[in-house]
Amino acid sequence: IVLVLDFGGQYNQLIARRVRDLGVYSELLPYSTPLEKIKELQPKGIILSGGPASVDAEDSFIADKGIYELGIPVLGICYGMQLMAYQLEGKVERANKREYGKAVIQVSKENPLFSNLDETQNVWMSHSDLVTEPPSGFGVDASSEHCAVAAMSSKEKNLYAVQFHPEVQHTEYGNEILKNFLYQICECEGKWSMENFIEQQIREIRELVGDKQVLCALSGGVDSSVVAVLIHKAIGDQLTCMFIDHGLLRKGEAESVMETFSEGFHMKVLKIDAQERFLSKLKGVSDPEQKRKIIGNEFIYLFEEESKSLEGMDFLAQGTLYTDIVESGTATSQTIKSHHNVGGLPEDMEFELIEPLNTLFKDEVRKVGEELGLPSEIVWRQPFPGPGLGIRIIGEITEDKLKIVRDSDYILRDEIQKAGLDREIWQYFTALPDMKSVGVMGDMRTYSYTVGIRAVTSIDGMTADWARIPYDVLEKISVRIVNEVENVNRVVYDITSKPPATIEWE
Ligand code: XMP
Repeated sequence: IVLVLDFGGQYNQLIARRVRDLGVYSELLPYSTPLEKIKELQPKGIILSGGPASVDAEDSFIADKGIYELGIPVLGICYGMQLMAYQLEGKVERANKREYGKAVIQVSKENPLFSNLDETQNVWMSHSDLVTEPPSGFGVDASSEHCAVAAMSSKEKNLYAVQFHPEVQHTEYGNEILKNFLYQICECEGKWSMENFIEQQIREIRELVGDKQVLCALSGGVDSSVVAVLIHKAIGDQLTCMFIDHGLLRKGEAESVMETFSEGFHMKVLKIDAQERFLSKLKGVSDPEQKRKIIGNEFIYLFEEESKSLEGMDFLAQGTLYTDIVESGTATSQTIKSHHNVGGLPEDMEFELIEPLNTLFKDEVRKVGEELGLPSEIVWRQPFPGPGLGIRIIGEITEDKLKIVRDSDYILRDEIQKAGLDREIWQYFTALPDMKSVGVMGDMRTYSYTVGIRAVTSIDGMTADWARIPYDVLEKISVRIVNEVENVNRVVYDITSKPPATIEWE
C-alpha cells in the first residue's frame, strides 16, 4: 500500500486513484492519522497531498513529523512539499507572484523522479506559497520562472517533493513521475488490480461480519448492484437484499431488478412496495434539500422497520462512492448537495454500515462489476440517484408529474440506445421543470408542461460536459415525447456543463 495523507486539496482522491491505476494499492487517510497507525499499515511509500492553507497559518494541517524518520519514501506534493520544508526547517514564503496553471520547469535527471524524462517539462501549478530554501541536506531538482524550488529531494533520507501537481492531466509527465516514485523509489511491485481489490474486500467483509447478518439496500443501480454481488460472494445467504420501490423509479425498473438478482443471481431479495408512503411524506414539499432528506430518512426508517421483522440484521451495506462523500461535504470540502446515501442518514440509525466502494470512482466500480461477472446491462447502466425521479421533478412531486418523467425518460432511453449512444453518454434523463407554456396541437391551444433533456459526458460525475447528441436524434426524441406523453407540449435541451450547473436539476 502507498498512503496518501489528505491535507484538504480538492482533488486529493485523484492522487490515490492515479496510484491505483499504476497498479499499486493506495488509500487516502486524514493528515492527522497517528504515526502508530501509519507504521502498522507498513506502507511502501507515503504521499503528502496538496491543501489550501499556508503551513504557518494558525490552524494549518500538520502531520506527525515522525513520518520523515521512518525511512519510508515520502513524496510531498504542493502543500505537502511546503510542509516537508517547514517541518524540516527549510524556508516557506508567500510567493511574489501566485502561480496558477501551466508552467514550464527545468528538471535535473539526478532526481530519480525525473531520471528518464525530458529536461524541460510542462507542469500544472496551483500555489500562492513556495519553498524558498530547502531544508539542509536537500538538493533542488527543478525550477520554473516564478518558482526557484519546484522540486527538491534528499536521497539519503528518502524524501522527495514537487511544487507542481503530477496527479492532474495537464502535467505532461505526471503519470511517469508518479510511476518513478512508486517503482524506482518505493520499489513497489505493481501487482494490484481490481481482482486484488475484490479479494481484499471479501476478506475484510468476512472478517467484519463473522456469522452475523447483512442487509443490503439494493436499488438496481451500478453501485448497489456491485455491492450486493460482492457481499453475496463473501457471505452468501447471510446477505438479504431489500429492494424498496419508493415509487420514484424509472419505468420497468422494479421488474428488471427482481428478475436479475432474485432469479439470475439466486440472491435473497425482498421487495417492499412503498410508493404511497413516500408520496404522502413528500406531499406539498418542494424544497430540493428537504425532498432529499425526506426520501433518505424514509428509506432508512423503512429499512429499520422491515429489518426488525427479519430479526438479527446487524449491518447495512450501501453502495456509497467516493464522489458521494466528497459532494456531501468532508472536513475540508463544502456541501454541494446532501447525497442520499450520506447526508440523509438519520442520527439514531441502528445499523453498522458497510460501504466497500467508498474509496472508488464510478469507472472503478464498473471494473469491479465486470470482474465479478455482472451482466453488462448492469455494469454499464447509467448512474441513477438514490432519490430517483424525486429530484428530477422540480417542485412538488405528484403522480401526474411522475408519469410524465417516467414516460419521457423511457422514450429518451429508447432512442439513445437505438442510436447506439448509450455507452458514449455518461448519463441521460429527462427532468420536469415546474412550468407550463402555451402550444398548439391540431389547431387547439394547449397549456402544458415542458420536458427538459439532460445528457452529459463525464468520467466520475465530479465534472461533466453536456453531450452533443446529433440533431436528428434529438428531433426524434422531441417528436416522440410530445406525441406520446400526455400533457407535454415542449421539449428543451440542457446545454450547461458541471460546473457551473450540476448534473441533476435538484
Ligand atoms: P450532481 O447532480 O450532484 O450529480 O452533479 C452527480 C452524480 O451523482 C448522482 N446523484 C446522486 N446519487 N444519491 C445518489 O446515489 C443522490 O442523492 C444523488 N444525487 C445526485 C447524479 O445522478 C450524478 O450521476
